[in-house]
Amino acid sequence: MAKYKIAWMPGDGVGNDVMDAAKIVLDAMNFDAEYVPADIGWEFWCKEGDPLPQRTIDILKQTDCALFGAITSKPRDEAHEELDPELKDKGLVYFSPIVKLRQLFNLHTNLRPCKAFPGNPLNYRDDIDLVVFRENTEGMYGGVEWFPLPEKVYDAMCDNPKMIHWKEKGLENVALSTRIMSKQGCESICRQAFNYAKTHGRKSVTLCEKPNVLRETGGLMTRVFRDVAKDFPGVEAWEANIDAICMWLIKNPQDYDVLVAENMFGDIVSDLCAGLVGGLGFASAANIGDEYAVFEPTHGSAPKYDGQHVVNPTAMLLTVKLMFDWLKEDEMAAKLENAIATVIKEGTVGTYDVKGRDNNPDSTLEVAEEVVRKL
Ligand code: IPM
Ligand code: MG
Repeated sequence: MAKYKIAWMPGDGVGNDVMDAAKIVLDAMNFDAEYVPADIGWEFWCKEGDPLPQRTIDILKQTDCALFGAITSKPRDEAHEELDPELKDKGLVYFSPIVKLRQLFNLHTNLRPCKAFPGNPLNYRDDIDLVVFRENTEGMYGGVEWFPLPEKVYDAMCDNPKMIHWKEKGLENVALSTRIMSKQGCESICRQAFNYAKTHGRKSVTLCEKPNVLRETGGLMTRVFRDVAKDFPGVEAWEANIDAICMWLIKNPQDYDVLVAENMFGDIVSDLCAGLVGGLGFASAANIGDEYAVFEPTHGSAPKYDGQHVVNPTAMLLTVKLMFDWLKEDEMAAKLENAIATVIKEGTVGTYDVKGRDNNPDSTLEVAEEVVRKL
């Protein structure tokens, strides 16, 4: 029997392409695992009205962790349009399967390293080494949304003197999304960020929030951050407003180290950080819970490149490295990261984003094969 059982979820679009690359590398490393394919994504929404079928949830429960490619998400009405005609007008509402997975398996922590590998021509600077800790189950992603609002809620809201002017807009014209955060959620993500900083010799943890406007949720997060910081005297605790940190990360990214944020701010700031180190082709991510984890590159499904094997597999391969870290396969993790770093440094093999379209770019699989040669 294999040492590990890994759920294998390519998902949509280029998710398949980059997972093909991952398989080449995993096999070359003789990683002792059984891979269990699991259905997820747009195809299953269109055909079955469910992008995350129950059979997939069952598979995940029987595996050690999951590798995931990418997902296509579309707004509500567009999603309904693409449903099988038999399933239309049955009240089915599209939801993002990855967001649901994070909530269902309580994958509370989204770890997103953004490191500039020397030699990458797309680096903003070569001395950037950021790690984003994004809270993964709460915030705007965990809040209720209404359009239109239930009358009771609308009336109760407009009863508040501060909200009275919303009455004039009329129930039919108002949509509401909410941000919800718990002390436990804030504490857990802050503690993990500080713990990581401490154990990895990092200098600082920066909280990215907006407590001057979002007084209750942002205020809670800020108080908890300060409390947790007291347990880590060796790590500097910095605070920044989310808008300001976006500016500072562009001006002086080398000054920052570990960043911590709630769900939506973490979503935004992690794409920004990815942009500093070569873009989404280099950004890996791990959704981590107490007992289970789903590893997925930060990038989306890029439907226009689906099946062409042209996109950069580096984000996916670095995601495999994160899986090795989580499984405590430290030697494999180091070996893989070194091989990826060597390929980037030599710069002879690279996809179109790195080499340019007119410069004979290599394919997704050729990059994976080059990584194998450097292992
Ligand atoms: C990410 C993505 C997802 C998110 C989308 C695909 C739902 O942007 O993982 O960062 O918003 O969390
Ligand atoms: Mg995102």
